[in-house]
Amino acid sequence: MMKFLLLFALLSYGFEGSSENVSSPQRVAVVGSGYVGLVLGAGLAEMGHSVICLDIDEKKIESLREGVMPIYEPGLHELVVNNLRAKRLSFSTEIDAAIRSSDVIFIAVGTPTGAQGETDTSYVESVVKTIGQNANGYKVVCSKSTVPIGTGKKIATQLKDCGDFDYVSNPEFLREGSAVSDFFTPSRTVIGVESERAKKIMEALYEPLSSQPVFFTDIVSAETIKYASNSFLAVKISFINEVANLCDVTGADVRDVAIGMGLDDRIGSKFLNPGPGFGGSCFPKDTLAFLQTAKEFEVDLKMTEAAIAANKTQKLRMIKKARNLLGESLEGQNIALLGLAFKANTDDVRYSPAIEIIRALIESGASVKAYDPEAMKNMKILFPSEIEYCKTLKEAVVGADLTILLTDWDEFREMDLTVLRDQVRQPLILDARNCLDYDELNRLGFVVENVGRPNVR
Ligand code: UDX
Repeated sequence: MMKFLLLFALLSYGFEGSSENVSSPQRVAVVGSGYVGLVLGAGLAEMGHSVICLDIDEKKIESLREGVMPIYEPGLHELVVNNLRAKRLSFSTEIDAAIRSSDVIFIAVGTPTGAQGETDTSYVESVVKTIGQNANGYKVVCSKSTVPIGTGKKIATQLKDCGDFDYVSNPEFLREGSAVSDFFTPSRTVIGVESERAKKIMEALYEPLSSQPVFFTDIVSAETIKYASNSFLAVKISFINEVANLCDVTGADVRDVAIGMGLDDRIGSKFLNPGPGFGGSCFPKDTLAFLQTAKEFEVDLKMTEAAIAANKTQKLRMIKKARNLLGESLEGQNIALLGLAFKANTDDVRYSPAIEIIRALIESGASVKAYDPEAMKNMKILFPSEIEYCKTLKEAVVGADLTILLTDWDEFREMDLTVLRDQVRQPLILDARNCLDYDELNRLGFVVENVGRPNVR
């Protein structure tokens, strides 16, 4: 894949054709070297820009300089190392100096959910303040951080009071696990900008991505696009999860239902995979924030509200399915949990369905052995000793009364089911991602629960 990306980037270096009066490549500072900032910074460097990624965490910056990634993201290590070597990418904690020497400053710091469910924008506010203090000529300040609708306008005014700044909202649509390829082939780039000068700079900056739609709009609309997109996708997932729950009892196969629905272009086939509920750093947080904003404006978002409620129920429905297999009491039962990350190809466990499922299993007195190819380190922060972490899949399933597959890693999709049969104590499996070979499981005598495919159990 990297070969393709590099080729893509090289072919795309045709900056000569970019907008007049805008020098390119540009000097870019990215404040915040987390998942968003890192992929963005390394991606822009690959396009030829001179990028400095910043963070207050000195250890993290030190490691990044050595080419050690703080997160697991396919393709990222290679991208960072190549651009470090090419001297287009650097890492620093010296935010003031980096701001002063850059033309475009991206804000890519976290906006976590606060104690009352509100979005905590204090990191963004602090970065904006620092940028304002380092005014030294015209700069574009661009937010990648997801901020509540209306925040951008306030920041724009605040920055204008400090110096010659234009504020741009450029929402992030990268998916974890495929963020690097998403960066180079985005479905669209959305840019909320209200000055011609800043628009030209953003056009030139993203010119290598111009074979994909680049959509310019105003700041508040760009902010809304981010929340509305993620909420719509959350609704789509909750919808298919509810259809799957109905299929569980009617006998229909949700996979066929999803295929049949998806063939209609107006519906589309993507995001119709039922599962244990959506998690991750965006959907749970963004749906709540979208609701919160709407409430402030006294508008009801009943669809989003329903998607959140259905998602909560869906996670716990997995426990009901475990009980269907094991009987009402889970006390003393050995559960093998395969998958802790909120989805495959990431080490991220934020809002992972696994968290609530582990909690419920522990409360029921079950004993849990877990395995995930990448996410165990992060889950250990939340459950340091309540469950047992295993080095291999095989170790996790030894003596299991029930195996629960929660994340659709390839390693689980492709596992040798005969070996699984030999290791477990009881041939009971809950495939919460509908990703196993049911003919084979049936042949081996497994009793299977899944999500909405009753005919293949
Ligand atoms: C999401 C958005 O897709 C991305 O555009 C945004 O900017 C960041 O949030 P991400 O959280 O990385 O990306 O993962 P995504 O692939 O969208 O999946 C989110 C959750 O939905 C996961 O828990 C996943 O397992 C679940 N999901 C997704 C389903 O249950 N069924 C589906 O069909 C698709």
